[in-house]
Amino acid sequence: MKILFIGDIVGSPGRDMVQSYLPKLREAYHPQVTIVNGENAASGKGITEKIYKQFLEWGAQLVTLGNHTWDKKEIFEFIDDANKMIRPANFPEGTPGKGLAFINVNGMEIAVINLQGRTFLPPLDDPFRMADKLIEEAKKRTNIIFLDFHAEATSEKQAMGWYVDGRVSAVVGTHTHTQTADERILPQGTGYITDVGMTGPYDGILGVEKESVMKRFLTNLPVRFEIDKKGRTQLNGVLITINDQTGLATKVERIIINDDHPFFS
Ligand SMILES: [Fe+2]
Ligand SMILES: [Fe+2]
Repeated sequence: MKILFIGDIVGSPGRDMVQSYLPKLREAYHPQVTIVNGENAASGKGITEKIYKQFLEWGAQLVTLGNHTWDKKEIFEFIDDANKMIRPANFPEGTPGKGLAFINVNGMEIAVINLQGRTFLPPLDDPFRMADKLIEEAKKRTNIIFLDFHAEATSEKQAMGWYVDGRVSAVVGTHTHTQTADERILPQGTGYITDVGMTGPYDGILGVEKESVMKRFLTNLPVRFEIDKKGRTQLNGVLITINDQTGLATKVERIIINDDHPFFS
């Protein structure tokens, strides 16, 4: 079983990259499952129903989210019907949406969990205890469990990787928008990467126009952040190969496509 995951898709530059490269990536790697993080898909802030449906049309089977989940007001109108979309499971109880979903492919089930860290992010419920609970729930149905841990701190993401090692197929970090080169298989068999990175502007700062971000640092004045649409674009992802029987990872490969890392196939 191969799972292709695409990191935080930022605005129209990110969506365009997914539309043009997802077919090529699927042809090159033959993943059975494709999951994308869509928390920044609508102009950097949240997701709309139209964009959610486009991702499914382009070949994603599931969309994960993060701290930008609620940025577009229309989310409240469609999240409860969007059964191919999950938001961090450790949002407060009673919050719309869900944080665990199952994908069916070739008679197999894949559980996907979305959690959010609490370091330098709002104080949510404990993601570690929530992981225990959801892994137990998922294990009743499948050994193949994929976890998108949306968190800022590298330490918190590493802690999650070690905490669930051997209990899930893979832990991939999202949110920081910069891909880390620490992909590995942990000793008990969980595939891990601290951050998958971001899909969208390549010449901005984390997807935002670099001029406005520099102005903020240079002046400390309030600045409006807009998605960079002038520069080049990139795609960041990860491909996890999993043993169907054990549910453990056998290979973790980073995917990075930009002018400095061209895509060949
Ligand atoms: Fe993000
Ligand atoms: Fe985020």
